[in-house]
Amino acid sequence: MTGTDVIHTAGKDKLINLNGVSICYDDFGTGEIPVIFIHGFPFNKSSWESQLNFMSRAQRVIAYDIRGFGKSSAGEETPTISLFAGDLIRFMDALEIPKAIVCGLSMGGYILLDAVTQHPERFKAIVLSDTQCIADTPDVKAKRYKTIYQINEEGLVNFTEGFLKNGFADETYLTKNALVETIRTIILSNSVKSVTGTLAAIAERIETCSLLMRNNVPALILCGTEDKITPLVQSQFLFTTIKNSKLHSIAKAGHLSNLEQPEEFNKHISDFISGLA
Ligand code: MLT
Repeated sequence: MTGTDVIHTAGKDKLINLNGVSICYDDFGTGEIPVIFIHGFPFNKSSWESQLNFMSRAQRVIAYDIRGFGKSSAGEETPTISLFAGDLIRFMDALEIPKAIVCGLSMGGYILLDAVTQHPERFKAIVLSDTQCIADTPDVKAKRYKTIYQINEEGLVNFTEGFLKNGFADETYLTKNALVETIRTIILSNSVKSVTGTLAAIAERIETCSLLMRNNVPALILCGTEDKITPLVQSQFLFTTIKNSKLHSIAKAGHLSNLEQPEEFNKHISDFISGLA
């Protein structure tokens, strides 16, 4: 199948074909300007369930699986953050969405920052959660390539356990066993190829901070106070870089703030959306 067609709309999952890549998504609620959610690495759209449930009462909400994750196919191209950003714009085109409010967590934020700096006119507002606009330092990049090597040698188990310890606030990791288990299952369901290919895409991403200074799109910045992967200081830097922005830190949350403190996360987003002109 080529071109852009909705090929399945029964049940919860919908599939759309974007130039040969099948993208799986949820699309609930109604409203002129939808809110689109982009998940972090290495998760899938199910990580936005609480946000979709809460927000679909008042507006149209969409979450999709990035190519290679969840039920989206991987395609043939080498993954890059710019390729994923192009997918976001193609996805909006295919669903005939001229403008949206888009929320990205971590890698979802890298994708969103790339897209908003290239196509600001497509965004009414953005929500940047637990993310950053800087590129990787040489040390961080080298560490990612070491991780790629290790995953290729031994598979995903050790990587997954390390990610869970780092990704959650200590208290979440020790007490919210069901949540930790859900995320463990999601990470282990990925293919080694998608995880390593996307890790390389993250390592090679370019900085977007310099372009963001010219950005006029309203931004809400959210970050767990215990985020060890994209620490709060990076959100504070985004806040000083983006003119029209608001920052809220979320206590008792690590890198996965939307999952660790969903009620507070949802309230910040809905207050932000209500406050938009
Ligand atoms: C993510 O959650 O998307 C990743 O941890 C981002 C990163 O490692 O830079």
